[in-house]
Amino acid sequence: MSNKMWGGRFAGGPAKIMEEINASIDFDRKLAAQDIAGSKAHVAMLAATGIVAEPDAAAIEKGLDEVGAEIETGGFAFSRALEDIHMNIEARLAELVGPAAGRLHTARSRNDQVALDLKLWVRDALDMLDQQIAGLQQALAERALEHAGSVMPGFTHLQSAQPVTFGHHLLAYVEMLARDRGRVADARKRLNECPLGAAALAGTSFPIDREMTAKALGFDRPTANSLDSVADRDFALEALAAAAICATHLSRFAEEIVLWTTPQFGFVKLSDAFSTGSSIMPQKRNPDAAELARGKTGRIFGALIGLLTVMKGLPLAYAKDMQEDKEGVFDALQTLSLVVAAMTGMTRDMAPDAKRMKAAAGAGYATATDLADWLVRRLNVPFREAHHITGRIVAAAAARGCSLEKLPLAEMQAVEPRIDQEVFSVLGADRSVRSRTSYGGAAPANVRRQARLWLKRLGVTRR
Ligand code: ARG
Repeated sequence: MSNKMWGGRFAGGPAKIMEEINASIDFDRKLAAQDIAGSKAHVAMLAATGIVAEPDAAAIEKGLDEVGAEIETGGFAFSRALEDIHMNIEARLAELVGPAAGRLHTARSRNDQVALDLKLWVRDALDMLDQQIAGLQQALAERALEHAGSVMPGFTHLQSAQPVTFGHHLLAYVEMLARDRGRVADARKRLNECPLGAAALAGTSFPIDREMTAKALGFDRPTANSLDSVADRDFALEALAAAAICATHLSRFAEEIVLWTTPQFGFVKLSDAFSTGSSIMPQKRNPDAAELARGKTGRIFGALIGLLTVMKGLPLAYAKDMQEDKEGVFDALQTLSLVVAAMTGMTRDMAPDAKRMKAAAGAGYATATDLADWLVRRLNVPFREAHHITGRIVAAAAARGCSLEKLPLAEMQAVEPRIDQEVFSVLGADRSVRSRTSYGGAAPANVRRQARLWLKRLGVTRR
């Protein structure tokens, strides 16, 4: 049997395998609510412009609500023969409403319809993501305020570099997430033009009112070129690009949690709620949620590269290749939402071990830069020379197997005779971090100020 939606010029039906490769209903049913919202806006406009008579439009609108209710309650029978969500809904509408249902598709095509539906879905996903990321920022800023003075080693090359504080470290992620939200907001702004009414590719001869449908669906304006309207998937690409960068940030944070929770680091403990056990090694507490957050980054990148690849080289306007946009977009944005939620949970949950972090902060000659800076200030030697002197002092301490603070003054003086007792005032990790008062620096007072500023920006009111 030929297709009942478009089979007029066909005598026979599709091959089984044709139906299989062609159908998108198994995944685009996710767009049901968006499809119905778009159809309702469209039919209201068709009535307002006199293109469809009021009674038909009213019947269609009522029928669309019924279809929506059937889908929501699980009573809807999806059909692969009807290919996609658009034709599934329209076919059911015809069963409920009769021939008037056939007027809904006036001045519209599935090409502008699907562009609209996906835009609406992505727009909701971006809005939700923004809220979720703000929630993670809040959790981080709260923990940062709590640990503004908790000294920990700062690393470069994953080697102890200079002492920072745990709060300072967490606020670094707050900044990254702020940029992520900026990208989400940017993507949403550019997305917000309505493609409905571009029809198949060339617009329509019916006197439609595209401003009206754009407004009804919460868009800033209609898209200006009908070809671009149905050929464009930039909005999905931008959402995926923003998601990929955000996932990168979360993956780095996840990796740090994995490191911090090892017995070797022991900087942080996760509660039972965010740990898993091993089925063979009874002693294990594994940070699976962090590992999965790190690992899921792969599928988010995959979705971005996948869609870029689908779109490259496609001649204007619509091509069925573009049906391949959906699964990756759905999966990536839902995955990121899950990852943000898990990272928020772990941020609230984790118990930093301030003592261990502090002990580690003093190790590895992490205050050598402070010694060099002191030589510059006190003895007025050029920094490069101070660097060299300090290097020799570090070597002396290493030969003795002690820290810089524990190195006898005489040994320092053997390297540079002008060094005096006052040098010890800059050598502890605590003192070092407290001296980092430059704007953006790690000093606890800075961290406290920044954490409070973020909480205020995020609208968190504190006692
Ligand atoms: N299921 C299709 C998609 O997702 C809808 C648009 C189909 N348009 C067409 N002319 N075949 O892209």
